[in-house]
Amino acid sequence: MKFAQRLAPLKFNVFADMDRAKALARAAGQNTIDLSLGSSDLPAAAHITDAIANSLSDPSTHGYLLFNGTRSFREAAASWYEQKFGISVNPETEVLPLIGSQEGTAHMPLAVLNPGDFALLLDPGYPSHAGGVYLAGGQIYPMPILAENQFLPVFEDIPMPVLAQSKMMVLSYPHNPTTAIAPLAFFEKAVNFCRQHDLVLVHDFPYVDLVFDDSLGAVDGACPPSRKLMAPSIFQADRDKSVAIEFFTLSKSYSMGGFRVGYAIGNPELITALRQVKAAVDFNQYLGILNGASAALTGPQDTVTTSVETFRKRRDVFVSALRAIGWEVPVPPATMYVWAKLPAPWASDSVKFCTQLVQSTGVAASPGAGFGKSGEGYVRFALVESPEILEAAVRKIAEFLS
Ligand SMILES: Cc1ncc(COP(=O)(O)O)c(C=O)c1O
Repeated sequence: MKFAQRLAPLKFNVFADMDRAKALARAAGQNTIDLSLGSSDLPAAAHITDAIANSLSDPSTHGYLLFNGTRSFREAAASWYEQKFGISVNPETEVLPLIGSQEGTAHMPLAVLNPGDFALLLDPGYPSHAGGVYLAGGQIYPMPILAENQFLPVFEDIPMPVLAQSKMMVLSYPHNPTTAIAPLAFFEKAVNFCRQHDLVLVHDFPYVDLVFDDSLGAVDGACPPSRKLMAPSIFQADRDKSVAIEFFTLSKSYSMGGFRVGYAIGNPELITALRQVKAAVDFNQYLGILNGASAALTGPQDTVTTSVETFRKRRDVFVSALRAIGWEVPVPPATMYVWAKLPAPWASDSVKFCTQLVQSTGVAASPGAGFGKSGEGYVRFALVESPEILEAAVRKIAEFLS
């Protein structure tokens, strides 16, 4: 069979490679500790699952869900955003429900790029950002983000001919995999740059709540006081929504990854364009899931605070344990990951490190190279196990390294 050329660049997929390595390790009898995927192990709150369960027994939720049927969810998303950031959002024109934020960011390039146009992406970055550009027939200009620049891109380094052919820039802070937070001043610079060069600015924002450190650019939320610490939104820099669209997910803050629900907030023209793409592809997800998501956004927020504290504790335990075995890693200011520079013998081959680690110890992590060229030399650990298991993983890593 002959397949489309656009599939070729999608063949190198770090998660698929690690899945194969994990399966081989399991088949060889290893007990695996899987720190390779950012899939939260915490449960969704009872008021969320109750809302979904109650919807199931209501036959009026069983049909196709067209745009009009999503209004109460769009209102919940708009008021959640307004309460958090104090910026008003029109639920009719500025919000779009998504089947997870990955679905939205991967479809966005279809609405913006013509074949051959460039998208400016972070390197390292989340793999589906690149996947969406390839599916749209676009080209990628990877903006290296390096530790010496606080993992922020240097716009001045983008070559003029590339910029002239570029239609969009994708940012995502707090950042997966580096865990960096972008300060608001950087977002202001990015918005001005995109206005100047007529670029759509996509901001993928799944870790809005998973912030531990206020010294690195996190801002005070509009309210409530118990959840003050959070990362800045792109619309604090683009208050009139002139160039930006921001993507949110219920997967991280509300532990709803498997339910597949997220939403975009942004410039009305961008929202309409993305809706046109999606209208050709899906009918939204099941209304019961949107009801659960509305309950999450409008209901008690104490489980969000508890989740943040859980990940903070895991982060502290894991970083201390790695440092105790002589692996100096920085303390992540945000997200659910640790981004660690590989010890010298492995510094040029993160895939080999991760493959051999899982084969000999059962500990699975993600090779930095899978997130882009500038990720080589690093490994990403997802803190999706209890502190005890994380400590056990570090003991196994110590044996492997010695
Ligand atoms: C940067 C980034 N975007 C999107 C996603 C996926 O989110 P969703 O579950 O909403 O598709 C993740 C998940 O790890 C992520 O890290």
